[in-house]
Amino acid sequence: MANTQEMPPQAQMMQALFGFMVTKCLSAVAVHNVADALKDGPLYYTDLARVTDTNQRALHRVMRMLSGVGIFAELEPGRFGLTPVSDLLRRDVPGSLRDMAVMITSRSHWLPWGRMEDTLKSGASGPQHEFGTDVFTWFQQDANHEQWAIFNAAMTSFSAGVSHAVADSFDFSKFTQIVDIGGGHGYLLKTILEKAPRAKGTLFDLPGVMEGDNSSGLGNRIGRVGGSFFKEVPAGGDCYTLKHIIHDWSDDQCVTILSNVAKAMHPQGTVLVIELVMPETGGPHPAKFMDVNMLAMTEGGCERTEGEYADLFKRSGLTLVGVHPTPSPVSIVEASKA
Ligand SMILES: C[S@@+](CC[C@H](N)C(=O)[O-])C[C@H]1O[C@@H](n2cnc3c(N)ncnc32)[C@H](O)[C@@H]1O
Repeated sequence: MANTQEMPPQAQMMQALFGFMVTKCLSAVAVHNVADALKDGPLYYTDLARVTDTNQRALHRVMRMLSGVGIFAELEPGRFGLTPVSDLLRRDVPGSLRDMAVMITSRSHWLPWGRMEDTLKSGASGPQHEFGTDVFTWFQQDANHEQWAIFNAAMTSFSAGVSHAVADSFDFSKFTQIVDIGGGHGYLLKTILEKAPRAKGTLFDLPGVMEGDNSSGLGNRIGRVGGSFFKEVPAGGDCYTLKHIIHDWSDDQCVTILSNVAKAMHPQGTVLVIELVMPETGGPHPAKFMDVNMLAMTEGGCERTEGEYADLFKRSGLTLVGVHPTPSPVSIVEASKA
């Protein structure tokens, strides 16, 4: 994609305004598994449309635009191939972001994001404006279980990219009982347990989320508990991980969650909050995007600075030990009992 600094202001503005079209088209080609169809080599759009069961002219126009911004390659007019970027839309590559691409403009996100002007006015989330409730309550309604499955698959796909970086950046081998709070389908816990041979794990999430978890390879080393972290969390762990949990909630709700962890944990235990830590400086940072996603999608969720984490811990009976960066955009914010 063009380096915006070198573009005249009007072109920079047009690129920014058209950005949503790139995102939506990426999501659409991910739904139709177009990248999978190109894994053995480039195809002319008529063949690509036949293999993916899509409309020829529509696919040609979408692929021409996505190739124009460097996501696919148009090798000759009408013949399209993968680039290192679109390779990540394949389902069979390590670190695949295909499920994330599907989710990012699925109904659970696209409709609430469409209410951003209302969120900007009121401060209330997109799901409140669009669905009349928070997104996790909406997911649990029978009619939205398919959307919930899309969301959970995306979390796993996103997790796959950073879980190894997290597992490699902290010594988990000292723990014997690791509890992953809001652990979704279990990808992080499974990755950590591979580095902690003495430990058993507990995956904790809302009832119903864990059916699709990826932890079966570890047999009886992982137990699954369903419940709400606003009520209580499994007791007795010497390590509690919370990845992309705290950023979903307001300060008061985070204090409830973290206080429940503080109550349940072994007195010498460790709490690891895994998030994008907001820098206190200007300039680009992925935390600034994720923060606005939290504004759009959650009830008071946000990305926080190290100091804001220290305050949350203090209010929850915990104390900040330190922040461990990882080779990925997320950091590990470590706390212990106060
Ligand atoms: C943003 S996802 C993060 C999932 C996973 N930790 C990861 O990083 O891929 C938030 C998770 O919190 C779970 N969750 C939401 N409300 C919950 C509650 N009240 N109690 C337990 N888990 C909850 C969701 O089901 C979801 O799996």
